[in-house]
Amino acid sequence: MTVTDYALVEVLVGVTVGVFHHSPCCRHADGGLNDAAKPRRTHENEILKIMKILVLGSAAGGGFPQWNCNCPNCAGVRSGGIKAKARTQSSIAVSSNGTDWVLINASPDILQQIRSNPALQPARAIRDTGIAAVMVMDAQIDHITGLLMLREGRKKLNLYCTESVWDDLNHGLPLAKVLSHYCGVERHPIEGLSSDQTRFAPIEIPGIEGIRFHPMPLKSKAPPYSPHRNNPGPGDNNGLMIESKATGKKLFYAPGLGEIEPHVLEAMQQADCVLVDGTVWTGDEMITLGLTQKTAADMGHLQLSGPGGMIEVLDGIGTRRKVLIHINNTNPILNEDASERTVLAQHGIEVAYDGMEINL
Ligand code: MLT
Ligand code: MN
Ligand code: ZN
Repeated sequence: MTVTDYALVEVLVGVTVGVFHHSPCCRHADGGLNDAAKPRRTHENEILKIMKILVLGSAAGGGFPQWNCNCPNCAGVRSGGIKAKARTQSSIAVSSNGTDWVLINASPDILQQIRSNPALQPARAIRDTGIAAVMVMDAQIDHITGLLMLREGRKKLNLYCTESVWDDLNHGLPLAKVLSHYCGVERHPIEGLSSDQTRFAPIEIPGIEGIRFHPMPLKSKAPPYSPHRNNPGPGDNNGLMIESKATGKKLFYAPGLGEIEPHVLEAMQQADCVLVDGTVWTGDEMITLGLTQKTAADMGHLQLSGPGGMIEVLDGIGTRRKVLIHINNTNPILNEDASERTVLAQHGIEVAYDGMEINL
């Protein structure tokens, strides 16, 4: 019996006798227990009146600190010299009952994220998962390589993605082919593009009864390895409106937003909460630090500051909850004492952290 199996049996026994306890694995790096991670005493299949959105990872590709980086943020969080939280690579999970979850983007840090969020492991059987399906917004490495970590699944992995992402998963970086030798992938298409190319058909996922998903194409970049890198089309990058059927409340999720197109602005104005691209503060911050020659725009991300930046965009969408995600390790907002953080607070903008829970 592996250590993992032992832990599972322990949880199963706890459930059977109605005793819940928190193992150390339920704790976050800062020692706190995620709210959604707390064992629930509700009936398993009860549709909650709230939709739960769990931020599993809030950093951009590379995470924070990034393994090979000694920029002021990465060095500072490693040494404890700055007030900042370490972060895993961006991914969220959504549920209408607290037991069955849709993973939106599969980060390479998924195993650590599952350990930190025991709600994703309901322990109904000797091998089990709370992840009913995975939906990916693009084929970026930080959003798809976690699929490989889910290969021990006992059923085919339910994967929702567009045709161009599916193409990348079969050619550019053929994870779908690789996974066919393990759990296999049951692909569910994101399709039905509207004639104005601003919406795909809404999606309902079996087992996730209380939620409707509205994917939409975004202007951004296909991954560097993709055959579509220099020939972008609708479906390479997508945003997602996530709607609670019980309350009608909506969350707009877009970790990679290169440009605020009219349909994106409309979606942001319709949402009760936006969880959007907070990758960099300035378009050239990675160049200034001597880390790369690429601007944020080259990478398909809109900077936060300055004219036309995300702060200005968020100022223009009225009163609603505004949260930044996919934060690059160079971004000064990771330092909780930074003046940039004060600026965000003045604009009513929050910074997502791993374990953050949004209830709508
Ligand atoms: C991005 O969001 O630009 C990419 O995730 C970068 C990367 O793959 O590291
Ligand atoms: Mn990314
Ligand atoms: Zn760094």
